[in-house]
Amino acid sequence: MPSPPLLDVSDLHVRFPTPDGPVHAVAGVSFAVSAGETVAVVGESGSGKSVSSLAVLGLLGSGRISAGSVRLRGEELVGADRERLRLLRGPEIAMIFQNPTSSLDPLFTIGDQVIEALRVHQAMPRRAARARAVEMLREVGLPDPERRVRSYPHELSGGQQQRVMVAIALACEPALLIADEPTTALDVTVEAQILDLLRRMQREHGTALLFITHDMAVVAEMADRVVVMYAGRVVEHGPVTEVLRSPRNPYTRALIDAIPTPATPRDRPMSAIAGSVPALAEMPAGCRFHPRCPSVHDRCSVAEPPLFELGSATASRCWLHENAPTAGEVHGVG
Ligand SMILES: Nc1ncnc2c1ncn2[C@@H]1O[C@H](COP(=O)(O)OP(=O)(O)OP(=O)(O)O)[C@@H](O)[C@H]1O
Ligand SMILES: [Mg+2]
Repeated sequence: MPSPPLLDVSDLHVRFPTPDGPVHAVAGVSFAVSAGETVAVVGESGSGKSVSSLAVLGLLGSGRISAGSVRLRGEELVGADRERLRLLRGPEIAMIFQNPTSSLDPLFTIGDQVIEALRVHQAMPRRAARARAVEMLREVGLPDPERRVRSYPHELSGGQQQRVMVAIALACEPALLIADEPTTALDVTVEAQILDLLRRMQREHGTALLFITHDMAVVAEMADRVVVMYAGRVVEHGPVTEVLRSPRNPYTRALIDAIPTPATPRDRPMSAIAGSVPALAEMPAGCRFHPRCPSVHDRCSVAEPPLFELGSATASRCWLHENAPTAGEVHGVG
């Protein structure tokens, strides 16, 4: 029997209250991450990547998990009490949030925040933790770290705050690191440094990585497997080499076609797919991607396709697979 995955998210549904009624931001998402593995989650803005990852630790604010399960080493986290989730944060699951400004404590210097993580999670004495904090801030590419340890978060740029977040996450040496766009605000050189650090942590500590990104080049470089999301659903998942080389879902294909070439500006949003992700309150009937899909046919606007299993490790949500010889419908997954 293979051991259960480190993290197993199954049929996750998340709703947020809004003045116009509840919106269904994540609608039945499943994925798993094994120890030491890197799983990338990709998809355009608004597809539910952050909400799915925040749900893992119950950090949804006004939102709530309306159905589904999140298991860490088999332990159910949906419905777990806050104290239990708090204890898991750090040693078991650390997060690099998409918005660093709101996740650093404004009242403490960044040095104190890295030192605290080292003292708590690696039981380092204060003096050693201080030296290590400076070293870690240097490793994540923060200029002048000896001086910068005394800075408060508001004295740093967004990219610098993001690097501090990475240092704190690394200091925790977690079993699972959830990194939500950890390098988006950084320039190419610093991005390469951070990706190297993450890989080193993975090698040295067997850390599993759930890596959320817009950047298919980063996916190709970092991930073992990839989960493609669209409008709150998983539309394709599989080994990264297979998905990037021969994407099965028209949406994945469009995302890959939108990969910028060296001539396109790096900060350009992913916009090469005509149209935009539908608002949650205006979800089209049938396949959620059908209004934008180059392969659309009659059936697509009528009924939503299930995730079709295409081989042992790949699945895609598209009616095109219905009569394919290898396709089997995946029940209760996706
Ligand atoms: N607090 C909230 N209240 C209402 N809707 C929300 C809330 N947080 C997120 N949503 C909605 O949930 C959907 C998914 O959002 P999410 O932040 O997960 O997208 P994302 O895939 O991470 O996008 P991005 O690439 O821009 O980070 C969006 O439609 C968003 O508007
Ligand atoms: Mg996000």
